Amino acid sequence: MSDSIDYFGSGDEIFQNKELLQVSHLPDSDRIIGRQTELTNLANAIKPATRGNTPNNVLVYGKTGTGKSLCSKFITQQATERASKNGVTVGVAYVDCLQDSTETQAIQSVGHQLNDPAETDVTIPHSGLSTSEYYRRLWNIVDDRYDVALVILDEVDKIESDDILMQFSRAVESGKLEASKIGLIGISNKVRYKESLDERVKSSLCEREYVFAPYDANQIREILRSRADAFHDGVLEDAVIPRVAALSAREHGDARKAIDIFRFAGEIAEEEGESTVTEACVDQAHEREETSRLAELISKSPSHAKMVLQAMAFLAQQSEEEGIPSTDIYEMYKNVCEQEGSEHLKLRRVRDILSELEFLSIIDQERKWAGKGKGNYMENRLIDDPKVIIAACNETER
Ligand SMILES: Nc1ncnc2c1ncn2[C@@H]1O[C@H](COP(=O)(O)OP(=O)(O)O)[C@@H](O)[C@H]1O
Ligand SMILES: [Mg+2]
Repeated sequence: MSDSIDYFGSGDEIFQNKELLQVSHLPDSDRIIGRQTELTNLANAIKPATRGNTPNNVLVYGKTGTGKSLCSKFITQQATERASKNGVTVGVAYVDCLQDSTETQAIQSVGHQLNDPAETDVTIPHSGLSTSEYYRRLWNIVDDRYDVALVILDEVDKIESDDILMQFSRAVESGKLEASKIGLIGISNKVRYKESLDERVKSSLCEREYVFAPYDANQIREILRSRADAFHDGVLEDAVIPRVAALSAREHGDARKAIDIFRFAGEIAEEEGESTVTEACVDQAHEREETSRLAELISKSPSHAKMVLQAMAFLAQQSEEEGIPSTDIYEMYKNVCEQEGSEHLKLRRVRDILSELEFLSIIDQERKWAGKGKGNYMENRLIDDPKVIIAACNETER
């Protein structure tokens, strides 16, 4: 062997099974922490399916990273196994409505997952059929192959039309399905989603409703511990898991975020050639996670929203004051526009942008009383460190 430099490093000294820290990884039931009540509720709602009867339609709410997708996938899988012991065939389809947001895309996706063309002689082409023909084929497939179909519509608030909810929840009573039954599990991060639904859809989709609460620090600690074997033995310093859990619980109670920070901490140790993951790696990882999350949010924002944020970050760095009046931000924003060689928007539009940023949880807003004869004004505060905001804005420019 020559002494040439090995650019791939000496190998996997930190991680032994990094797969456990990917978002797509579906843990075993004994690794689902602190969701017994939620899983029991879901199981009760869909239990009739395991005997070949019509399950209750369910709506699951909660903030991101509270285990909604995980628990829904897990419980439907378990229902399939239980059903098969009872001699009942249950089919499960999982639709990510963020990706398949039109009615046709969603039905196609369900159709593909439930179909086996060799068995049914039915095909689901990617285009060329009317919506009603896609439905007709889907009902044929379900009638042909299953006693019950369970359909998970994840991020259901992203679906462009409620028609699909109506069609699915009424498939049996409208006589579209002759022999089989269907059950829906809708998942949403928006607590107000239900209010936007048509009364009839609401009453059929929301037979059961469950809210998933954010995790506390103890639960996040357990979730991380149960995945600590992603790392080699002895690589994690004792303070690492408690630190990640404390940071994540304080901010959001979001398990996804916690797992991301955990993985980043390992990657940072790896990049720096350390033999252990330290608390300092966690703090860096936390910053990296925030930057990448913000960069993603910001990259989806229009360019003026970025410039408004940059203006806020510059002001926050200059002043000790926490809250910044919208009009001050506006003046700084005009400077940023000038530097970027871009026309500035009117104050009214910038106010709209600020309230959009609040909606995205990038800033906080508070209405203040300026004094008699002066009325109200709005104070704005960045939630993250201005350094992180500037880094995220710069990252999205490339
Ligand atoms: N109770 C839990 N036990 C173990 N891992 C969990 C738990 N809840 C969430 N996770 C993990 O956290 C990440 C986010 O969970 P997910 O179900 O996608 O959240 P949601 O759908 O509510 O946004 C996934 O990687 C998931 O495996
Ligand atoms: Mg989800």
